[in-house]
Amino acid sequence: MCPYRVGAIRPTLCEQGIHGRGFERDVSGVTVSRRRPRLAAGRARALGLPTRGTTAPNRLRRVDRWLASAGWSVLRRAADPLVVDLGFGSSPVTTVEMYDRLRPVRADVRVVGLELAPERVAAAEPAARPPGLTFARGGFELAGLRPVVIRAMNVLRQYEEGAVESAWAALVGRLQPGGILVEGTCDEIGRRACWFALGPDRRPRSLTFSAHLGSLTLPSDLAPRLPKSLIARNVPGEDVHALLTSFDAAWERSAPRGAFGPRQRWIAAAGLLRRDGWLVLDGPHRWRLGELTVAWPPGPGPTPPGLGSMPLDAGRTRLDAGPTPPGPEGLPPSGVGSSWLESAESLGEDTEHRFVEQDEPGLLDGGGSREHGG
Ligand SMILES: C[S@@+](CC[C@H](N)C(=O)[O-])C[C@H]1O[C@@H](n2cnc3c(N)ncnc32)[C@H](O)[C@@H]1O
Repeated sequence: MCPYRVGAIRPTLCEQGIHGRGFERDVSGVTVSRRRPRLAAGRARALGLPTRGTTAPNRLRRVDRWLASAGWSVLRRAADPLVVDLGFGSSPVTTVEMYDRLRPVRADVRVVGLELAPERVAAAEPAARPPGLTFARGGFELAGLRPVVIRAMNVLRQYEEGAVESAWAALVGRLQPGGILVEGTCDEIGRRACWFALGPDRRPRSLTFSAHLGSLTLPSDLAPRLPKSLIARNVPGEDVHALLTSFDAAWERSAPRGAFGPRQRWIAAAGLLRRDGWLVLDGPHRWRLGELTVAWPPGPGPTPPGLGSMPLDAGRTRLDAGPTPPGPEGLPPSGVGSSWLESAESLGEDTEHRFVEQDEPGLLDGGGSREHGG
């Protein structure tokens, strides 16, 4: 028996043969390479754990919308506009949608959908539109690609929490300078989603919440969709618990605005959250979409360490300039309201209508069962 055949993910790794010569499991459980991964055709090595392939049309629309607006400058400025959708699942549908949504940002964008499961790659082939949209087998080593944007949604959810940092390190290590990794989780139909943006230094820079507001009771309803590294940390004493508690309290204080609809209530609550001292990076134009992005980790003071190197936009210099005075109630402080997240507001507005709220898309479940965010 293979010596690695212990624990939840090892049988699969053995079947993949990815811990063979040249590979080892690091302390946190992710199989990593001691030398350059061997990626030659016919001897492909793809790092990771194939999981259920649940996906659905429009499931990742919220992430795409954010990428096409808040993250647009990353793509626009890239010397090589290569985007990787890691772990596209049992159907290529969300990769196809991503390609269509990013093309207005950068007409020459190339999107590569990567999957560990070879049969899923084969099944995706008919959807390819080379050279812009292609599919290949690959894992955390990204099949040797060097993208400017990596989207890894609902991929790490089924890994052990201890595997996350190694996975992040492997992924951001392959980013182009100034690139971003978007890693997070959403529900089956994309109504509730949370994701980190990480830069090449391996650290999260921001945490975004996005929700269908009509079906939201409280902001903390989003807790089950927190990224893997936060999901078990929603307990007293942890930053994410403090944030969600503050957001819920702000939501309660904003109840009168609910008379004008949940969107107005979310906008008011987001403004209060900022007044409560959280470094909210976006403003009403994003909030009205049921979105909110905060600097992460929150850190002391209004400008957490590292934010100054956030590669996402031209507006960041305003944040770099230091604290800004609080704005009027419900509105962002001056300066921050035009932060990097809003530097492409007009583009976000333009693309917004293309992102249809689809309530009950048919689930495409490679494993034959529904999963929750995984
Ligand atoms: C739940 S599906 C998510 C599909 C799609 N991204 C979505 O959000 O709808 C997760 C997929 O990630 C794949 N996967 C898991 N680990 C991976 C890795 N290290 N590299 C590439 N794909 C991976 C699994 O095989 C599975 O198909």
